[in-house]
Amino acid sequence: MPPDPLPAASGTLPGPIRDALAEILLDRLALVVTDPRLPDNPIIHASPGFTALTGYDEAEVLGRNCRFLQGAGTDVAAVDRVRSAIRDGRAVTVDLVNYRKNGEPFGNRLRIDPVHADGQLRCLLGVLHELPPPGSVVEDGRDMLLRDLRHRVNGAMQLVMSLLRIRMARSQDPAVVEALSDALEQLEAVMLVSLMEAADRVDSTTGVQMAYLKRYAARAANRLELRVPEVLPRATGGKGEAHKMEAIDAARVLGADVAYLDPPYNQHSYLGNYHVWESLVVWDKPEVYGVACKRADCVSRRSVFNSRPRALGALREVIRAIDARALVVSFSDEGFVSREDMEGMLREWAGKRGGGVVRTVAVPSKRYVGAKIGIHNQRGERVGKVSHVTNTEFVFTCVREASRLCVA
Ligand SMILES: Cc1cc2nc3c(=O)[nH]c(=O)nc-3n(C[C@H](O)[C@H](O)[C@H](O)COP(=O)(O)O)c2cc1C
Repeated sequence: MPPDPLPAASGTLPGPIRDALAEILLDRLALVVTDPRLPDNPIIHASPGFTALTGYDEAEVLGRNCRFLQGAGTDVAAVDRVRSAIRDGRAVTVDLVNYRKNGEPFGNRLRIDPVHADGQLRCLLGVLHELPPPGSVVEDGRDMLLRDLRHRVNGAMQLVMSLLRIRMARSQDPAVVEALSDALEQLEAVMLVSLMEAADRVDSTTGVQMAYLKRYAARAANRLELRVPEVLPRATGGKGEAHKMEAIDAARVLGADVAYLDPPYNQHSYLGNYHVWESLVVWDKPEVYGVACKRADCVSRRSVFNSRPRALGALREVIRAIDARALVVSFSDEGFVSREDMEGMLREWAGKRGGGVVRTVAVPSKRYVGAKIGIHNQRGERVGKVSHVTNTEFVFTCVREASRLCVA
């Protein structure tokens, strides 16, 4: 007769299965069991995993206190924590330097748990886990995230794209070839957005990709899920274009009916706050630094718009160069450029003879997320006070004289 099936999703395991599991774990993990009721808390069991890790056979360690694994490099404070946890009957986890039988040191993440039966303390269980040597190259969460992303996106993209390419190669009809090459281009955009939306749900420490709290938010451990973004129908005016260039160059070479400028307001740079987006778009694997794993080039790639003395002049130059019938600019009362200066520049752009119209909408708004989180020191402790948590956002709209465009 086949054994009874396990009770579905009951969460408990029948006794024989628990015993079998315990046997496997006792065999695989590096475990020691001690008896705190005996003098000096000696080892009463050591698993094969313990032998494999330390080089000592069970017979060599039975009856001894585990401190024989310690040596000159063992941190005294960590041992103190172990001693007081054992004295108080608490579980404890510490990282210690221990030594194998051959004298070789290793990092040991030790977990000790008191084991009770029938309301009595019976023994203490120690689980030893070897830590990677300091300085060794270990794949961190970010590396795994990027590898996972690359793998999944590349796989899906390669497949669909090669199908499209095969069709393109087979087709004699130029209209079909053009439509397929168009589809390929759009697909890349869709995949990139889908990737950014997936990353947005796991990468962020606090809303921007900074490390104010000096630790990752719990959502960083979520699984990455690619989602198909909401794809809007193509604009009636024709195909959209995206350009990656300096603002001043874009203003000089591109023309439009309506131009929208969203400059940095002050020293807070987009690159520094949204560095993960940059890495996704550029699709590189840059050198990084700090808790937030920022791109190293966040330090060298400075924008004039983030510089108090240079922002006004730089913005004036861009605005003067813009070739459009209407211009929209968003800014804040916390920016390096005052409302009056901005309106002055826009009036000049709209038309010297006064034919142009400049309107300003002022909206009270919450300050950026860092202001709510507060100021923290290197240890992640809150220090100092944030002066204010609201500000005013401005939207300036501006129509050039002789333009018949209507801006509400
Ligand atoms: C179950 C158990 C496992 C232990 N395993 C280790 C170990 O792997 N490495 C180590 O350095 N100390 C280990 N210890 C800690 C030492 O045995 C001892 O408690 C510690 O050195 C503090 O006590 P002492 O000041 O008397 O030495 C373990 C203790 C217990 C109870």
